[in-house]
Amino acid sequence: MKKEEEINEWHADKYKKHAGFVTKMALPVIDLLAPKSGERILDLGCGEGTPALEIEKCGAKVVAVDLSDDMVQKAREKGLDARVANATDLPFEAEFDAVFSNATLHWVPQSRLAVQNIGKALKKGGRFVAEFGGEGNVQAIREAIETVFARHPEYGKVEIPWYFPNTEVYGALLKEEGFWVEYIERIPKPSPIDDIANWLMLFTNGITAHLTQEQEAQFRHEARELLKESLYTEEEGWVADYVRIRVKAVKV
Ligand code: BEZ
Repeated sequence: MKKEEEINEWHADKYKKHAGFVTKMALPVIDLLAPKSGERILDLGCGEGTPALEIEKCGAKVVAVDLSDDMVQKAREKGLDARVANATDLPFEAEFDAVFSNATLHWVPQSRLAVQNIGKALKKGGRFVAEFGGEGNVQAIREAIETVFARHPEYGKVEIPWYFPNTEVYGALLKEEGFWVEYIERIPKPSPIDDIANWLMLFTNGITAHLTQEQEAQFRHEARELLKESLYTEEEGWVADYVRIRVKAVKV
């Protein structure tokens, strides 16, 4: 049997070990944010806090929020003002100069509610700068997951929890919720990772939570074998088929 904490949980140490590349991917987004001294900035989905520390180097004050207790704990150990909060229920009103979010919003299918909460947290004229998975993100990985589930009816129906909009849909959503969209782009971003088995272990927890440990191991093995075809080469190793949406919008 799986222990409760093994199901649908974020483990900050495992994340740091196998997904450190996600933090590096935040640097161009921080450039787009261009934080200024004295600003108050919300980092939505702060993870273990490295991007928030980078933002604070510019003299801004960051409030860092994440849904995971473990991540928030790690961020606090770095000296950050970190709190547990959900993108769809943020306890802030007109208090931030900017909201920054990296690699988080593809976990929030209630995208309108998240955008409304971001808008509520911002001061008028405040900016929302984010990057997350866009249309076509991890397509090969998704197809491999679906193929393995289709081979094993005993796994039940596959439920993919990710939200990967295109720029038209997300841009329109922002406008409808009172933002002026200064910039929005879809960016294919193939990203080297250590081993797809670790990626699957970290990120498909919610999809495989109902499987036994043996089934989960079998699932990861079969998905890895399928993905060798498309995501692995001798020269480059494993490269995840990431596609991002990068956006900067201003609250009108
Ligand atoms: C991403 O960063 O694009 C991502 C990570 C985990 C699951 C799905 C997408």
